Amino acid sequence: MSILLTGADGYLGWPTALRIATRTDDRVVLVDNLARRRWVGDVGATSATPVASPDRRLDAAREVHDCSNLSFVEGDLVERGFVDELLAVHEPEVVVHAAAQPSAPYSQINGERANYTQHNNMQATRNLLWGLKEHDLTDTHFVETTTTGVYGAPEFPIPEGGATMENQGEADGVPFPNMSGSWYHSTKGFDAQNLRLAHDQFDIPVSDVRTAIVYGTETAETREDDRLKTRFDFDYYFGTVAHRFCAQAVAGYPVTVYGKGKQRKPFVSLEDAIEGLARLALGDADDRPEGLTVYNQVTRAISIVEVAETIADVGGEFDLDVAVEHFENPRDEDETHKMEIENDRYADLIGGQDQTFEDGVRDIFETLTRYSDTIESYEDRFLPGVLADG
Ligand SMILES: NC(=O)c1ccc[n+]([C@@H]2O[C@H](COP(=O)([O-])OP(=O)(O)OC[C@H]3O[C@@H](n4cnc5c(N)ncnc54)[C@H](O)[C@@H]3O)[C@@H](O)[C@H]2O)c1
Repeated sequence: MSILLTGADGYLGWPTALRIATRTDDRVVLVDNLARRRWVGDVGATSATPVASPDRRLDAAREVHDCSNLSFVEGDLVERGFVDELLAVHEPEVVVHAAAQPSAPYSQINGERANYTQHNNMQATRNLLWGLKEHDLTDTHFVETTTTGVYGAPEFPIPEGGATMENQGEADGVPFPNMSGSWYHSTKGFDAQNLRLAHDQFDIPVSDVRTAIVYGTETAETREDDRLKTRFDFDYYFGTVAHRFCAQAVAGYPVTVYGKGKQRKPFVSLEDAIEGLARLALGDADDRPEGLTVYNQVTRAISIVEVAETIADVGGEFDLDVAVEHFENPRDEDETHKMEIENDRYADLIGGQDQTFEDGVRDIFETLTRYSDTIESYEDRFLPGVLADG
């Protein structure tokens, strides 16, 4: 059997590849077009952690973890011919689809990037889903990292999947509406609809994994060797909130909270995120999933101000003197939104294990303090700036 993992050069994809490959003898085929490396270069930024080439990573995985079952294919999933060949040659029994342009701010720079993001993300997913159908691979379990962002920020607890709609005294279950707040997030709302179609029309078993904001630098496998590190971006476009704050702290900048910062956001640690994906990918061979299941891949909701204060506190353990400052909010958002989100199914999947936010931040500082020179050389990238292409 083989498992196909897309986006395998990315922040989540690479440690997921290692987790899966260390737990199975099956072939694990990694696919990526290395676009993330280019986008980050595009905005004049870099990963704080050095990112080894795919070949070097694979050599290290073989040496350190004895993973001779990993192979890497460079290619663009937007190209239908490439996806067709990939599926025809490898006939995967599981596809873990983690390839996407995942940055909301990048998707909003201009119309060209909005087009690029939507075309890239949606076409890649469609090519894979239709490819499975056309290659007679409709028993293949399709696992995709969508995002909790598709739920928006409603004033009621977010269900793990669909919603109930009532009209004129009658009620029925419906898919949760696409309430995305960015041109990137909306691609995942469309993907969720297309996953439903692929399940309803082609009978493909689907796990729609609505991923929260992921924090962390290391997993059990990446910790073993520097060549195995995953990327860590901290710039305005590609650094997610907790990562940017940690890098600001390392560079001696105050941590900047927009407005009151009392709005809570959903988070999951890198370790917990990849554990869930690996469990879905490996599953129980005798009991493969048949339906469409939505998982809210989230372990906690934390307010932005709490994120900043935890970073300031833990920073103290690393001799970092971190101030928390509030700036006028450039975004139109409810600064007190309490964000309640159901996650029972996901908590069951990862077996109740769960790295605390504090421990995650400790891990991040342990890594980042080794690369403070890189962060300081790119510290102007904390703010939106002039792009390499103007
Ligand atoms: N990191 C998070 O906090 C987070 C939160 C919610 C959802 N997600 C989702 O998880 C997945 C992984 O995110 P990430 O943070 O690792 O992002 P990432 O950018 O580091 O990884 C995505 C990878 O996909 C590759 N890729 C993109 N388009 C491709 C294409 N057309 N063909 C081949 N490869 C392509 C990129 O080169 C990159 O290596 C994405 O689907 C993202 O939307 C991530």
